[in-house]
Amino acid sequence: MKLFDTHLRAFAATVTLAAVLGLSACGGGSDSPADSTSATPSPPSAQAPPATTGASALAWQTASAMGPGINFGNMLEAPQEGDWGLRVEPTYITAAWQAGFRTVRLPVRWSNHAEAVYPYAIDPVFMTRVEGVVDALLAQGFRVVLNMHHHRQLDGDALDPGEFVVNPSDLDPRFVGLWSQIATRFASKSERLLFELYNEPHGRLTAPAWNTLLATTLQTVRISNPQRLVVISPAGYGGTASLGALALPNDRNLLATFHHYEPFNFTHQGATWVTPTPPVGVTCCTAEQTAQIENGITQAKAWSNVTGYPIFLGEFGAYSLADTTSRVAYMRTVRIFANAQQIPWMYWEIASGFGIYDPATGQFRPELTAALLAP
Ligand code: BGC
Repeated sequence: MKLFDTHLRAFAATVTLAAVLGLSACGGGSDSPADSTSATPSPPSAQAPPATTGASALAWQTASAMGPGINFGNMLEAPQEGDWGLRVEPTYITAAWQAGFRTVRLPVRWSNHAEAVYPYAIDPVFMTRVEGVVDALLAQGFRVVLNMHHHRQLDGDALDPGEFVVNPSDLDPRFVGLWSQIATRFASKSERLLFELYNEPHGRLTAPAWNTLLATTLQTVRISNPQRLVVISPAGYGGTASLGALALPNDRNLLATFHHYEPFNFTHQGATWVTPTPPVGVTCCTAEQTAQIENGITQAKAWSNVTGYPIFLGEFGAYSLADTTSRVAYMRTVRIFANAQQIPWMYWEIASGFGIYDPATGQFRPELTAALLAP
């Protein structure tokens, strides 16, 4: 069970991007070609970049082809795989593909599977396990977003049970060192594999601190992966409010990502890892709630237009203590608006507390899955 809260994320998300970024209308361009490989429903096709700046054609084509996405959460980012009740099983891979998902975001807690001191060697058994999962996902045909997730001490948070402390002076070098090893190991994989440097940087990772660390890390990744697409989240738990403070390195093979759980008191009702836990009984979606949903996505789109880089919604979701009718309404609202804005999305998550798949029966929950995938 996860013990530590993400309540500050809700606060962070309430600050508007416009206030931080001072956005003005800019960018634009025509839609990119339709994706030829994706499943129903039609995935968002990312907006074409300005001619001379911003991301590469590969980054834009990939964003256009991501299709419906799903997080394989509560598996490899638990302190040990299985600690939170789930392991990556082959059945999830085939079921997710057959349902129509085309991208899997794979959260991984590398920090708990590596030496505390230089050279920060990753446990070879764990590395091989993650590589096996990535290979199976790629073989199925997915795009895969492989990340680093839940390094509690890096954010200045209290540790989860089963984690260990590292010397504070090792934290940042160790993060870079872990990525050096991951990047080297996965360097020869398909270009359908993307690296996401870090999930929801926050706390100790202020925007300036994160900008410095991500730039150093990207330089290291580029040694072994000169062209691979790398995904970068803003600080502030990946919320749109922090996009304006994100300094993207001068590198065209980048995509940005953001997380959007508004209305937070709806999506996280009863979530015990949030302090204080939002009370249950909140429904969705009033006009005000719909506006909250749409505003975050609009802000991300505006950032993309200004910078010329694609951005995708890496996490959104409603916890299972919300009523099913409201969850369906919420999920439909997010995906329809995100698709309309050509923002690719990945639902959080497949088979745990937010899940759309029941691991006990081996079946997708039909109404929730339809909310994401039905026309
Ligand atoms: C965290 C999960 C959490 C989810 C919803 C994710 O970013 O990694 O632990 O369940 O957000 O709060």
